[in-house]
Amino acid sequence: MAQKFSRVLAIETSCDDTSVSLVLADGHVEKSLVLNQNQVHAPFAGVVPEIASRSHSSYLVPLIEQSLNETNLSFKDIDGLVVTARPGLLGSLMVGVVTAKSLALTLSKPFIGVNHLEGHIWAPFLKDESYQIAEGFKAPFIALTVSGGHTSLYLVEAFGEYTLLGQTVDDAAGEAFDKFAKLVGLGYPGGVLVDQMAKVGRTDAYDFPRAFAKEETFQFSFSGLKTAAQRVVEKMSEDELHRALPDLCASYQEAIVDSLMSRASRSVLRTGLKRLVVTGGVSANSRLRFKAETWAKENKVLLAIPPLRYCSDNAAMIGYAGIQRLNRGERSSQDLGPAPRAPLHEEMRELK
Ligand code: KG4
Ligand code: ZN
Repeated sequence: MAQKFSRVLAIETSCDDTSVSLVLADGHVEKSLVLNQNQVHAPFAGVVPEIASRSHSSYLVPLIEQSLNETNLSFKDIDGLVVTARPGLLGSLMVGVVTAKSLALTLSKPFIGVNHLEGHIWAPFLKDESYQIAEGFKAPFIALTVSGGHTSLYLVEAFGEYTLLGQTVDDAAGEAFDKFAKLVGLGYPGGVLVDQMAKVGRTDAYDFPRAFAKEETFQFSFSGLKTAAQRVVEKMSEDELHRALPDLCASYQEAIVDSLMSRASRSVLRTGLKRLVVTGGVSANSRLRFKAETWAKENKVLLAIPPLRYCSDNAAMIGYAGIQRLNRGERSSQDLGPAPRAPLHEEMRELK
């Protein structure tokens, strides 16, 4: 009989968050530990890959020990190991993959490397004492995956069946937030700081462009927006910039949110699927959450957005995706290596 996996230990180190989680097959999160490296990268206003991988190598093993200690569990209670193997920063991924493989080998347990984006897509299906997805929410659905490295729209027919409807042709939405934050001197990480500043600004103070606004497309583009903001900011004195900051942030954020929502809503209406997932680090954005919720209510669409703790990178979502795969009999072998680039839809086509 095929082995049944009840509990996995999951590891996520694809970018600058070191995360470990204990997850059950139904999505119940027993433990989720995330150690962000924001402070070490802040002086550089962006992630420094060398520093990221070095930090992962310092903190990952202690975090694994902590997750077991705090749940009074030991390695014998774990059925398998799950790790983000792709895509991401090569050196960062490597730390997680090598650690998971070593544990799998020494403990004689199965392990699987999963795609980070698959984790984000299923993050709303995690559950804990204060969160659970709306009843009746299930595949098929549309998933808007928005993070620092990705902006994609998928038609999710079932677990493992993903059709890419559209993606960004240049910068990711999170990248657009982060670059803007750097430009106006808000610091790092940018998205959340722009979000906070925008709360007291006017969304229509600056007329920033929305790419492909008149086209019936599912593609995104944010590089024109970034250049437009650059032009406005360049002409300002320090003082003017300081005074204009809330309006600049609100208008810039509005342009990103409008672009995201126009594609997401179009794909929901075109496919006739009345279920939408908005996920990834940028789904923490308060304006995006508000606009998505308002639109969903008006259009009688079921909406699932993870709570903030499962929006940004976390091992719990990786564990949930991995345990589904392990329970389908999939395994990775010891020659698995990290892959910096790995489009989800192409990977799944190969696996099918
Ligand atoms: O999913 P994530 O943690 O890492 C990647 O897989 O990239 O996403 C990080 C991105 C960053 O670009 C960050 O600025 C953005 O998510 N982000 C936000 C907010 N919180 C995080 N963007 C806009 N508003 C926020 N509140
Ligand atoms: Zn991510």
